[in-house]
Amino acid sequence: MCGIIGYVGYRDVVSVILSGLTNLEYRGYDSAGIAIRDDGEIKIYKTLGKLINLKNELEANRAQIHNPTSGIGHIRWATHGSPSIINAHPHTCTCGRLVVVHNGIIENYKELREKLVAKGCKFKSQTDTEVIAHLVADEFGQTKDLELAVRNSVKKLQGAYAVCVMHKDVPDLIVGARKHAPMLVGVGNGENFIASDTPALIEYTKRTIYLEDNEIAVVTKDKVKITDINGNEVAKRIEVLPWEPVALSKLGYKHFMLKEIHEQPDVIRNVLNGKLYDIEQPIILGEVKLNKEILKSLNKIQIIACGTSLHAALAGKYLIEDFSGISVEVEASSEYIYRKSTTDSSTLVIGVSQSGETADTITAIKQAKEKNAHVLIITNRPDSNMARLADSLIPLNAGIEVSVAATKSYIAQLISFYLFAIHLAEIKGSLDKGYLKNIKHELIQLPTKIEEVLSDTSVIQSCARKFSSYKNFIYIARGINLSTALEGALKLKEISYINATGYAAGELKHGPIAMLDETMPVLSILIPGGITYEKVLSNCEEAKARNAKLIALTSSTDKKLDNIFDVVIRIPQVTEILSPAITCVPLQLLAYYIAEFLGKDVDQPRNLAKSVTVE
Ligand code: AGP
Repeated sequence: MCGIIGYVGYRDVVSVILSGLTNLEYRGYDSAGIAIRDDGEIKIYKTLGKLINLKNELEANRAQIHNPTSGIGHIRWATHGSPSIINAHPHTCTCGRLVVVHNGIIENYKELREKLVAKGCKFKSQTDTEVIAHLVADEFGQTKDLELAVRNSVKKLQGAYAVCVMHKDVPDLIVGARKHAPMLVGVGNGENFIASDTPALIEYTKRTIYLEDNEIAVVTKDKVKITDINGNEVAKRIEVLPWEPVALSKLGYKHFMLKEIHEQPDVIRNVLNGKLYDIEQPIILGEVKLNKEILKSLNKIQIIACGTSLHAALAGKYLIEDFSGISVEVEASSEYIYRKSTTDSSTLVIGVSQSGETADTITAIKQAKEKNAHVLIITNRPDSNMARLADSLIPLNAGIEVSVAATKSYIAQLISFYLFAIHLAEIKGSLDKGYLKNIKHELIQLPTKIEEVLSDTSVIQSCARKFSSYKNFIYIARGINLSTALEGALKLKEISYINATGYAAGELKHGPIAMLDETMPVLSILIPGGITYEKVLSNCEEAKARNAKLIALTSSTDKKLDNIFDVVIRIPQVTEILSPAITCVPLQLLAYYIAEFLGKDVDQPRNLAKSVTVE
């Protein structure tokens, strides 16, 4: 959701900014823009739609661009004002000498705009961002100090911002500031960068400085200075990014989503690495600070998350309650933050987030911390804002996930919940030791079983081809795989724009059955050996009696299923409690192939952003 890169240095400024924006593309956007300092002037280029349009625009204007020495670039996901060239960033002040790019939302922009208009400022766009340009220009007019002008201005802003500012009269200097939106500086030799996320920098430097809320960065080619909101210099640690640029390559796959689905066996191995290495030994979760004393006073667990992470949380609830007997509530972050919660100091609150930057979840976590709850964060970004709020942490180690639709981070979240639930059971002594050993053994086998699924996707592909013209789908399951049904349906919606709804299979006859006919395929998850198999099978028979087409996702080898179902997608044998870590994979693939057959933009679905940093 929006992306920023700024650069001052000796390289081709336009190329650095374009490649930085390209590496942020996965976040989702609808327009793009760049401002460069060239021949002592600030030159701005903006286009609607994909980055290729901006690249073409810059190419078309090549003769006017000579030797730029600094610049800022932005991809915008519209919040205030429709996607348009006028609303695209960078925005300028009335005289055009100052340029601004911004991620986030300025909540008091209307009031600020009125005051600035009264002072004579001429607004061009409908955005909240443009007030920042006029505000800083106004301050700069009085102080002639860009850093001070930004500091004075951000003090007047309410809401969230990561902002970068350049001024024609202050050559090759970028001022960045942040509050409730990520921003970091990339440190180089004879060059420096500023960006909203690490992928923008990784091709050029791995040395980064993360800004905290209310900090201001002044970046030139030779110097980086960080100050607090009062202007006091802050000594910051340079951190080294763990990722290589290859993480941003498709490695021969047509889409990042397909690559990331195929990475899942190794992702599981990474999550297990160092935590579960011997089934005879207890699980090791080094950054989880819950000792026996804390556990004894723990009366409940609340899990807070959004979207796909919320579905992983639902599976987590089943696991934790099953393994430890501790009562677990799961709630969408956006709901948790607007009601009177029962969180208290004896509650463990678990925040789950791929990005660690989801605004709703961050707000929820902050509220939980205010109530003195112990906060455990499960995230793929140990460098994120959410991770910084954590009392305990489980890093996912899934590697950067580029496709907007989460896949490998979901499986890493599931595995983290298995490990955490086993860890609780081991500390509490709530499960039979032999059973725990079997579960651990099966966990270690999971990557091989998923490799088996991935080695032959022909049934899934032909199912996708057969059903790609349907407009509606129902996904059903019971027990722990209800989370898989919800997640499978979400994947299909996200990337194919087909209406798919997940239901607890037993709920079908309480309403949704009214929709069933030959136009409504029903996909069901059937894991034999567990407690739900026969029940779900009966629900499928009920659907068949209403002429619905049936798809089974099952580990059963029973040939009878081939007579009942139109398509049977088979997976390897697996214990029901562990099955979500396998059943999610064919559903990701089914969604992928349907979207691919329909020619959809799989990696960057319309209207979606990888990390939702606004409420
Ligand atoms: C997943 O496919 C979606 N892109 C979306 O639902 C996502 O899971 C949600 O926005 C939460 O993001 P987070 O895990 O980064 O907090």
